[in-house]
Amino acid sequence: MTRLRLAVIGWGRLGKACAEALRDAPELALAGIVRRADALGAASSSPIRGVPCVGHVSELEAIDAALLCVRSEAAPGVARELLQSRVRLVECADLADGALRAHHDEIAHLAKRYRVGAVVGAGWDPGLLPQLQRLFELLIPKGHSQVTRRVGTALHHTAAAENVAGVRGALCSELRDPDGGTHRYVYVELSRGGDLERVRQQIEGDPLFADEPTQVLPVDDLAALEQENRGVLVERLGDGVGGPHASLILEARLDPIAFTARLMLDAARSLSPHARGAWRYTPCGLVPLDGPG
Ligand SMILES: NC(=O)c1ccc[n+]([C@@H]2O[C@H](COP(=O)([O-])OP(=O)(O)OC[C@H]3O[C@@H](n4cnc5c(N)ncnc54)[C@H](OP(=O)(O)O)[C@@H]3O)[C@@H](O)[C@H]2O)c1
Repeated sequence: MTRLRLAVIGWGRLGKACAEALRDAPELALAGIVRRADALGAASSSPIRGVPCVGHVSELEAIDAALLCVRSEAAPGVARELLQSRVRLVECADLADGALRAHHDEIAHLAKRYRVGAVVGAGWDPGLLPQLQRLFELLIPKGHSQVTRRVGTALHHTAAAENVAGVRGALCSELRDPDGGTHRYVYVELSRGGDLERVRQQIEGDPLFADEPTQVLPVDDLAALEQENRGVLVERLGDGVGGPHASLILEARLDPIAFTARLMLDAARSLSPHARGAWRYTPCGLVPLDGPG
């Protein structure tokens, strides 16, 4: 089996999630990681043993496609550079409406000009979620839609813990035990030099937390914890004269980064080696993206 060799461009949350998803995809291989020069200089070695980490994609051998995982504002420029170098790409940038259209138009223009394949919109939102919403509207043409985004449903910030010296941020969640009691977990991200034991004693001894058994747990990155606990509720409820009215509801608890990584790998698989021009990702296959001509 010839494995598709993919490069990850940008070693942030999505880049790491793509590398993780690649570990579970035997038909795909992580050919290398491309990082900015200053990030490369600060890191002593490649973040993954045996995988080259370089400053430019041209330093990697025999790449089949690049997964564009750089920050949104940098995505248009990096996409342009990749396409000009005739590197096939898969992208998912989350940009505001007008900027996203311009970004996709530019990719369509360059992919056609340089006769190289590119996939846009291979992510959760933008990407798959708007497609699911369109499907709901197609099936229930007369009705109303509602999308409720939940950020860290079970988690909430707690000033009582965040005001403790040595704590950069804290999130709290109360979970019900099987025996009916409640247990409180306080996740803390320590500031530089913060002493976990002192922080733990102060929080666990705070009268505000005396009502339930409270456990303090250190985490490296509070933002990542919130991200993991993201959810969305998509509702389409039929209305109009007569009945019964159809309804469609999608309730999802998800990590949008992990979902996006899986969708990017699927997009890379779907992009045939002979495909030219820009394509929009759908889980049922790629569809041509109409560019500005
Ligand atoms: N469609 C979706 O549902 C969805 C979901 C999640 C993310 N995304 C998109 O995925 C991309 C990455 O998101 P993320 O959460 O992984 O971001 P992130 O954690 O902020 O990481 C992005 C990486 O981009 C690189 N970078 C930073 N500044 C740069 C610059 N000026 N020029 C070039 N590269 C730069 C850095 O990598 P190095 O240090 O290695 O250079 C950084 O780690 C974004 O475009 C985001 O919109 C889309």
